[in-house]
Amino acid sequence: MQKKYFIALLGIIFFITLSIAFKEKNVDNYSIKKLGALLFNEKIISKDSTVSCASCHNPAFAFSDTLDFSIGINGVPTKRNSPSVLNMKNRPYFFWDGRAETLAQQALMPIQNPDEMGLPIDEAIERLNASAFYKNYFNQVFKTNPNAKNLSLAFEAYENTLETVDSKFDDWSNNIGKLSASEERGRKLFVNDDSKCFDCHFGIDYTNDDFKNIGLFNGKNLNDSGRYLITKDLADLGKFKTPGLRNIALTAPYMHNGMFKTLEEVVDYYSNTNKFVPDAYNKDATLQKPIKFSDRDKKDLVAFLKTLSDKKYMTKRSSH
Ligand code: HEC
Ligand code: HEC
Repeated sequence: MQKKYFIALLGIIFFITLSIAFKEKNVDNYSIKKLGALLFNEKIISKDSTVSCASCHNPAFAFSDTLDFSIGINGVPTKRNSPSVLNMKNRPYFFWDGRAETLAQQALMPIQNPDEMGLPIDEAIERLNASAFYKNYFNQVFKTNPNAKNLSLAFEAYENTLETVDSKFDDWSNNIGKLSASEERGRKLFVNDDSKCFDCHFGIDYTNDDFKNIGLFNGKNLNDSGRYLITKDLADLGKFKTPGLRNIALTAPYMHNGMFKTLEEVVDYYSNTNKFVPDAYNKDATLQKPIKFSDRDKKDLVAFLKTLSDKKYMTKRSSH
């Protein structure tokens, strides 16, 4: 072969390789998780384009917010406290009453909920199709235009990435860090039968993934029936999903109704539930009798709970 043809051939091969590599890199740049992250922060999927998922599940507050009740479109407050959406991957139920069973199913509900984003799904899909950016992105990832199914899959893929395993407590359990004396006493107390905590908050994310009534229902001032609204079974009256406790120091206020502002208040409550709600209905047997923690016990339990915060989400505000 003549030298100039050989060089031309090399040039062509080089060009083809380069364009394949470039194309692959481009495809790589589009991913379902990244699409989910963009959508999680996208306000056009709310009625008046003012609210995104991140408005209430804000990464700066470990994917919750600081309000008893969050504010949706038109300034309307939500009916329950916004939970963190960290560590959702292994949960079998979502929402305080467990009305969704997969993250994909869950994700379309806040978009339509009039207290949250207030937009019919058909309209949300229309808006995404009208956006050249999203239309292209969905086509790159799913090979179809935006539709409800792949919208929900994108949210699920993103939320599945929001797992946290890098806390002081994780360091301790991996033998690469220590707990203080108070944190260690709190840990022992937490797993001790007498404190009852471990009856419901156990496993890697500190939840039994079940519904329990801890005494925050009396049918009067505390009248959210919880799980009962879904099952219509009277045994479920006042039961709520046991929340996981990872990052709990970062997600105040607490409980389905945000009624406790600090972990100290939560531990005070568990110490003697009757003192707070004497007329509770259907309360779990484990919490009938007061546990009566000493002041030191309370401090230690709170110190332990604070070791469950992932370092990535700890800020000056909350890392004390
Ligand atoms: C206006 C505030 C608000 C907006 C916006 C919002 N959420 Fe929520 N979210 C809540 C509240 C309040 C709850 C609890 C509601 C309940 O249990 O009845 C919740 C619950 C959840 C849960 C269940 C958590 C658990 O512990 O079971 C997930 C997951 C979630 N939201 C994801 C999303 C996604 C995805 C979006 C956007 C498509 C979104 N949220 C938009 C307030 C909001
Ligand atoms: C019988 C089961 C049960 C026991 C025992 C129990 N919990 Fe809970 N815990 C729950 C449930 C259910 C909720 C949510 C209740 C609600 O919102 O009405 C909850 C809520 C919490 C919260 C607030 C979570 C949030 O995201 O708002 C903290 C903190 C907590 N528990 C810590 C503890 C500690 C510490 C102990 C032991 C002293 C304990 N729990 C014992 C079931 C239990």
